[in-house]
Amino acid sequence: MGHPCLQQPAAPVTAFDTPELQTLVADLFDTMAAENGAGLAAPQIGVSLAVVAFGFDVNPRYPDAEPVPRTVLVNPGITPLSDEMEEGWEGCLSVPGIFADVTRSNDICVRALDRTGQPFELTTDGLLSVCVQHEMDHLDGLLFLDRLVSRRNDLFRRKVYQSEPPKG
Ligand code: NI
Repeated sequence: MGHPCLQQPAAPVTAFDTPELQTLVADLFDTMAAENGAGLAAPQIGVSLAVVAFGFDVNPRYPDAEPVPRTVLVNPGITPLSDEMEEGWEGCLSVPGIFADVTRSNDICVRALDRTGQPFELTTDGLLSVCVQHEMDHLDGLLFLDRLVSRRNDLFRRKVYQSEPPKG
């Protein structure tokens, strides 16, 4: 937290099947495994590129979670599939020791490229949906803490408007 890489939008990947991209993906999975993370985005290891990795067999941070296949998302985009929002407990390897409830879409569709540049789609809900949205926020330079702040701002704005509606 506080590193410039975590506060700026990540650049899209334009070269595939390169040793650099393979090394980046390997570093993401190694770091994730070492820290017991469920997912990790390239900006979290100091690389400002739109690459996200997630997946695990067992995860001590989420002991009740089903295994998730190891997946790489390159240049991902997200579409919510319903208006249903859900609040879930989140933490982040880049924000040690802080956890909070964050409200996010439940059902989502993710369109991304794999590490060879082939497009694919994935629809998901539950913990994996939260994980993917959290990691994709890192590609926009957002931390889950930023989600809390905007939510409080929204509540604040609504409160203000209730007591004194905007004119014009
Ligand atoms: Ni994170």
